[in-house]
Amino acid sequence: MSSRLDGRFSGAEDYSEGATHYDVQNKRRASVVEEARKRRTAVVREADVVIEDSPLRRMRRGVYMGADGVRPTDVMATDLHEIPAGATSTIHRHSWDAVMWVTAGTGWTEINGVRVDWKPWDTVYIPAWSWHRHGNESAKDARYMSWSVGPMFEYFGLALLEDAGDEPFAQLPPPPKSAASNLLGDRLDPADPYARRLTRLLNSRVDTSDSRLHTAWDDVTPRVTKRGARSMFLVDESIGYRTSGLTAVMHELAPGRWQARHRHGGDAYLYVVKGHGHSDIDEDSYTWAEGDLIVVDHWCWHQHFNDDPEATTRLIRVHNADSIFDLMSTLLDPLPLLEEPPQLDGPDLTGFVWPDPLDGRPPTD
Ligand SMILES: [Fe+2]
Ligand SMILES: [Fe+2]
Repeated sequence: MSSRLDGRFSGAEDYSEGATHYDVQNKRRASVVEEARKRRTAVVREADVVIEDSPLRRMRRGVYMGADGVRPTDVMATDLHEIPAGATSTIHRHSWDAVMWVTAGTGWTEINGVRVDWKPWDTVYIPAWSWHRHGNESAKDARYMSWSVGPMFEYFGLALLEDAGDEPFAQLPPPPKSAASNLLGDRLDPADPYARRLTRLLNSRVDTSDSRLHTAWDDVTPRVTKRGARSMFLVDESIGYRTSGLTAVMHELAPGRWQARHRHGGDAYLYVVKGHGHSDIDEDSYTWAEGDLIVVDHWCWHQHFNDDPEATTRLIRVHNADSIFDLMSTLLDPLPLLEEPPQLDGPDLTGFVWPDPLDGRPPTD
């Protein structure tokens, strides 16, 4: 008598075409990369970003990168937001964090009941799970860019968003705790592995609730880096922020100069605040101008050039390297995930006098 298990025990091969673990897994992995390659973008032009009304949020939005528009992403999303003169948005919160950078106008953002007033070129940080709303009490529309790690949370199935309309903050529920704080106190015996987990999660780095929230442009400190740009930290652990991994820095390139060539894993987005230039990304070259977003999406040699012979150009670089990239470095060790030529090819800046950081800022009233 034969059974369908005979082959399994006799050692007979059963490479059921396409159905084995090996086939299924390979096919799935190939399609992930194929899909990601189809989505590759080098520069999102400001002119291609459609600004739409969002009556639900009482604001307007233009999607640079993200599934709400035509360029879906896996890790970060980038949007332009407009708060009409006199408008106040609804209050909402989400499981991911985000960075805002004000391009024009004045306004405020209330974050967990704390009001942050902002003006052009200020940076505001929205911690994960914080209740936040925006307002504009002026007679002119206000605009800001945002970068969030919402897509990464969606990828992991952990993206949650709650909108509470006009509910005052005091009546809204607190964020979920990172550990069962009701079990704290003398019951946390380090000899108990469950107690050790609770303690660790309570002190977890992703508890962003004690983060700094605001970098006023008036307070930034510019420093020239070895790669040849003058850089200002906007959101970084070194200036008091605690994020899920998002960092933001402004890079300023001297007239006709560039930043040293390099490559790394992970996405990096560069928003062009001022000036024009081009980026060499592997074999190709892409021009860009004010309002565009340069997308360096992974492991390609890249170098950014300021094509203006007279004035500096300013770019805001945002990436999520401090979480996913660090993790990938560990997972892929000993593969290096950041490469630079043995000699950095930064420009000669001898004698160049950098402009006042306040030069070119839009009106602040
Ligand atoms: Fe938000
Ligand atoms: Fe880079």
